[in-house]
Amino acid sequence: MKDFIAISDYTSDEIQDMLDLAVKLKKQYFKKGNKKIFKGKVLGMIFQKPSLRTRVSFDMAMRHCGGDALYLSPNEIGLGKRESIADIARVLSGYVQALMARTFDHAHVVELAKWSDIPVVNGLSDYNHPCQGMADALTIVEKFGKKSKGLNVSYIGDGNNVAVSLMHVSALLGWNFTLASPEGYDLNPAAVEIGQALALKTKSKLTFLRDPHEAVKKAHVIYTDTWTSMGQEEETAKREKVFPPYQVNAQLVSEADKDVIVMHCLPAHRNQELTDDVADGPHSVIFQQAHNRLHAQKAILARLFDAA
Ligand code: CP
Ligand code: NVA
Repeated sequence: MKDFIAISDYTSDEIQDMLDLAVKLKKQYFKKGNKKIFKGKVLGMIFQKPSLRTRVSFDMAMRHCGGDALYLSPNEIGLGKRESIADIARVLSGYVQALMARTFDHAHVVELAKWSDIPVVNGLSDYNHPCQGMADALTIVEKFGKKSKGLNVSYIGDGNNVAVSLMHVSALLGWNFTLASPEGYDLNPAAVEIGQALALKTKSKLTFLRDPHEAVKKAHVIYTDTWTSMGQEEETAKREKVFPPYQVNAQLVSEADKDVIVMHCLPAHRNQELTDDVADGPHSVIFQQAHNRLHAQKAILARLFDAA
């Protein structure tokens, strides 16, 4: 396992193993602190876009385990502009022990991995958000425990990068995944094809709808994300006209399973895709989910470093 670029690059067993390790490292962290399994290691963090959770949780994951992290801003690196991605990858391979990259173009993180001698972790691209998907899965497993197989996970809104990783992790773990999106905002067809192949193996079901009300019937998880992702800002006004029927609000939540949990990767645009009363209400797990980024990423890094 050299890189962590997409959840779909891994088997169900490998994903389950990383989740089990995340649970173990989380317990260890709260009990007596993590063992210093990343001692002597530095994670270079390349950011082409803003970040709160990804930046801080990776930095803290490294520090808690005895390592360190180095933030590299868009202006410093100029990925593919000041210097080619291949050259950046080969230079950084001699300075740090792993890279995390948040890029616009998915091909750029793939290119970094191709030319790096060190592990590369995808910290969100226009295609997917695999570290988020792992934290989401950890949160779902914590909430539903061993009974999680056969759960119904419903994503409401834009068929974006976060939805791709949630679909893939759901398919790998045997959860039924339903997505309701407006016409023109469907999931990437290539990602759906990959998801269908994974779902076939675990006998889970993928369903794609237009109607959010139909999508949340019997849902154990309702998930939403921003209507306008980073890099799409010029489409904001257009999207704000299309997406309001896809708002996750108290009415929609009341149509799901009575014990449904509500998830959002954050940052949330409150009272757009998610109302305040739901975000701060009894079904919401959004902060547990955000905190789980830390624990899930420790497990991913530990497997990449072969350190636990
Ligand atoms: N969920 C997430 O990736 O948040 P940031 O953009 O703040 O890192
Ligand atoms: N879909 C959002 C996720 C942010 C964490 C974006 O790409 O901006």
